[in-house]
Amino acid sequence: MDNNRRKFLRRLALGSGVLATGLPSFAKVIGTTDEQMDRSSDYENNGQHFNMCGYAAPKIDTVRVGVIGLGQRGSEAVGRLSYIDGLEIVALCDKYPDRVTASQKTLEKMGRPKAREYSGDEGWKALCESKDIDLVYTPTPWHLHTPIAVYAMKNGKHAATEVPASKTIDECWELVETSEKTRKHCMMLENCCYDFFEQLTLNMARQGLFGEIIHAEGAYIHDLTKDWLFNKNAYADMWRLKENMGHNGNLYPTHGLGPVAQCMNINRGDKFDHLVSMSTNDFTMNTMVKELAAKDNFFTEYVDRPYRGNMNTTLIRSNKGKTIMVQHDVSTIRPYSRIHLVSGSKGAAQKWPGPERIAFGHSWVKKEELEGLYKKYSPPIVNHIGAIAKDVGGHGGMDFIMDWRLIDCLRNGLPLDQDVYDAAAWSCLMPLSQRSVSKKSTTVDIPDFTRGGWQTNKPVDLTLDGGASTKVRSIKPDLKMK
Ligand SMILES: NC(=O)c1ccc[n+]([C@@H]2O[C@H](COP(=O)([O-])OP(=O)(O)OC[C@H]3O[C@@H](n4cnc5c(N)ncnc54)[C@H](O)[C@@H]3O)[C@@H](O)[C@H]2O)c1
Repeated sequence: MDNNRRKFLRRLALGSGVLATGLPSFAKVIGTTDEQMDRSSDYENNGQHFNMCGYAAPKIDTVRVGVIGLGQRGSEAVGRLSYIDGLEIVALCDKYPDRVTASQKTLEKMGRPKAREYSGDEGWKALCESKDIDLVYTPTPWHLHTPIAVYAMKNGKHAATEVPASKTIDECWELVETSEKTRKHCMMLENCCYDFFEQLTLNMARQGLFGEIIHAEGAYIHDLTKDWLFNKNAYADMWRLKENMGHNGNLYPTHGLGPVAQCMNINRGDKFDHLVSMSTNDFTMNTMVKELAAKDNFFTEYVDRPYRGNMNTTLIRSNKGKTIMVQHDVSTIRPYSRIHLVSGSKGAAQKWPGPERIAFGHSWVKKEELEGLYKKYSPPIVNHIGAIAKDVGGHGGMDFIMDWRLIDCLRNGLPLDQDVYDAAAWSCLMPLSQRSVSKKSTTVDIPDFTRGGWQTNKPVDLTLDGGASTKVRSIKPDLKMK
């Protein structure tokens, strides 16, 4: 431990650190402890059990799926997955039984057989233990993602988990260790990687049109306050509002980070090396909740809680000397943005603020030229399934492209586009940004979850070679998703 660290810890122990640094009191929440960082180094030094990057599991003709968490996201997933042939939803689980009943109705509307039902706080365990499931698909609150994925893999199932895959560094390693030891896939469902412009830029990056990618940016900037975080009828048990207390950093890094990480071949030729992170204070959430509490006692318990700073900005530097800026803000009033900027030695791409733009010089190319690039460089997956995905809906189609690709890979025994190392590396920003914020934006090393594999791992396969055999059932326009 160096002297500065010792001094810092001593200041905290004396209770003067917060005053001395001028940080708000919740900055004491450190996200990742020294013990966790030490354990992380041990995991890293122990070496890989087996390389899951590029791993092809045995083919599964009909993928039997159990869905856990049937709220806003999970109930839509049931509809989307039901369109895919060679897939059966055999089990449904939610803490609240009425949500299971509602998803059974979706299955019925889609002409699918009834699924087995699980409910209660721990119903997911019985689902994971059952013998007739190949894939456990988990759109639950964040704290359940790793426990469910790990339990599913230990019980012989592949795991697909909503974002972020884990909340702590220990959890990131638990996913990696379990996936390697069980040789079960653990895919984080980062749907933004499958959006149309993101797919275009990924393929263009791969073809070298941007030259060497030097810098990228991504974000999740979405005002969730009024309609979501502070809406009693949105997230179950107000879980997402609670996550915004006592965790001060980038709590939701993967939508912005995933697509640019793929363009930069992170974990497959390069890797994240270290980060620095800075958060503003909270200027809106506590004010808003005080106003709500003045009219409704329900909100009283949420007043004067340690809300995270509104905007978090994290900067990552890769081993090859490239940088990525990632932002997260869900509580200020501004238009939605995931940024998606890719900037290279020969060109750049940017989406948000719209329109989508590409440049090979000082100006963005004209609309017609962009249309030409779309035609020429949209990768095979977009040409194969993109139009159908738009008809199904779900964030403009990207959700369905992701689901279809996952099932098609499992059915054809192909490696998945996102492996457990991506899940861990993209999610670890959540705990590590908090550690940096709590230490006055100090540098934090990012673990190498591939344990050296990044130097030889192959980039994500953008062909559909060996796959594309999975059919889609006829679309029901009246059931189109948002
Ligand atoms: N990729 C995307 O675009 C996207 C979009 C929205 C949400 N999400 C993610 O999806 C997940 C769910 O979000 P949401 O908006 O649907 O939240 P939600 O609150 O609407 O749904 C969560 C569901 O999980 C259930 N649940 C809670 N505890 C459970 C338990 N012990 N066992 C079984 N079920 C349990 C809840 O009852 C609820 O139905 C989150 O991880 C979120 O980050 C991703």
